[in-house]
Amino acid sequence: MQPTAFFVAGRPVHGDGELTVHHPYDGRTVGRTTHATPEQVEAAVAAAAGVAAEAAALPAHVRAAALDHVSRRLAERAEEIARLITAENGKPVKWARAEVGRAVSTFRWAAEEARRFTGDLQRLDTDPTATGRIALVRRVPRGPVLGITPFNFPLNLVAHKVAPALAVGTPIIVKPAPATPLTALLLGEILAETGLPDGMFSVLPIPNERAADLVADPRLPVVSFTGSGPVGAAIRRAVPDKHVTLELGGNAAAVVCEDWNTDEDLTFAAHRIATFANYQAGQSCIAVQRVYVHEWLYDAFLPRLVAAVEELRTGDPSDELTDVGPLISAEAAERVEAWVDEAVVAGATIEVGGRRDGTSYPPTVLTGVPADAKVNAEEVFGPVLVLTRVEHDRAAFTAVNDSAYGLQAGVFTHRVDVAFAAARTLEVGGVIVGDVPSYRADQMPYGGVKGSGVGREGVRSAMDDYTEPRVLVLTGVQL
Ligand code: SIN
Repeated sequence: MQPTAFFVAGRPVHGDGELTVHHPYDGRTVGRTTHATPEQVEAAVAAAAGVAAEAAALPAHVRAAALDHVSRRLAERAEEIARLITAENGKPVKWARAEVGRAVSTFRWAAEEARRFTGDLQRLDTDPTATGRIALVRRVPRGPVLGITPFNFPLNLVAHKVAPALAVGTPIIVKPAPATPLTALLLGEILAETGLPDGMFSVLPIPNERAADLVADPRLPVVSFTGSGPVGAAIRRAVPDKHVTLELGGNAAAVVCEDWNTDEDLTFAAHRIATFANYQAGQSCIAVQRVYVHEWLYDAFLPRLVAAVEELRTGDPSDELTDVGPLISAEAAERVEAWVDEAVVAGATIEVGGRRDGTSYPPTVLTGVPADAKVNAEEVFGPVLVLTRVEHDRAAFTAVNDSAYGLQAGVFTHRVDVAFAAARTLEVGGVIVGDVPSYRADQMPYGGVKGSGVGREGVRSAMDDYTEPRVLVLTGVQL
């Protein structure tokens, strides 16, 4: 098996050492690549810095055409890419296909935003001394971006860093997750077809321990990181003067409110919660982890939830019918197992699930979990749900907020006043009404508060993040 090339300043190259990628389900070798050498890393950074002015001056039609090309090629190669995502990440192929579809749309949105990204005209003659003055407010790139991406969406979370960078005309260096570099390299192959100037993008597989040098490099003034809280916090501490965006974890909650009480309501919520607690084996920052149910509904809801969880098919992620595959590694599954065992010792009951098999952990529902148990208070990043009975909706909102995190929350209610109360009260980046917290449309602002990070992704939000306003004041102009 030949190693897959990575990309330095848009060119395919090989480095040294060997990075072997294993299938999380059965451990077989999926592919190989090499690590970028320090010289190659330097070449990528120097090229990004060197091309920044040219990139910022690229006409909108050039940037948009490149982004449209990537979107089209991802669509053309969708099945191959989905199979690769499944092989290196272990997510069921149906979810891998969904991820490719989302990346197609992320790049397409970025092409559209690139055409629209114009700026504002601001009148200044609101003051007598400024008669005849106007301001043009444009956003200009802050400079080359370092994008550090996680394993759980090896394509679309890379797309969320690359597409906005190309849309605003700023170079980007991607450091993919060591467990899942191959999909990012395939994206690099497609990016290399665009004819964008050399240096606009590099994809560098390097061990995590070597990322600190890239983070510290002053030629990369923007760092966009998606991953764990401790690493995000360390980045922030290391480069307080840089523009840093952090998309970190969460222990996302869903609330089943008092008015969501018909048989159909409860069955719908149970199915949505069961599906989105366990999709990708819970390895999404907005997978449902905590569920708060009004006490009048709890006894009717629990059996529905357990039944919906039992319906999920586990096993080989390349099987069309599999709903829940393995976790990324045995260590990840062992950690989930340890946290569940710890909760049980502290008094929790396992309603369904709870027995690890290698890298796989079954969809699990826990009740009677103490608030401070890790499965409640920390990010499980595994297929584990904690169900809690609450006295009323307000108590549920208080419990949602009793968390170090705040990414998204789902609120099952029909009532507009409850929806607005949730939006006012919940300390999160987004409230999803009538559905799970796991809903994300790729064009909407996405990000969290508290331990869930700073800044927002979503194509247009990331474009704002990668740029800063520059004002041009004109004198002697009448509007
Ligand atoms: C994440 O895990 O933060 C990304 C979730 C998504 O894009 O659906």
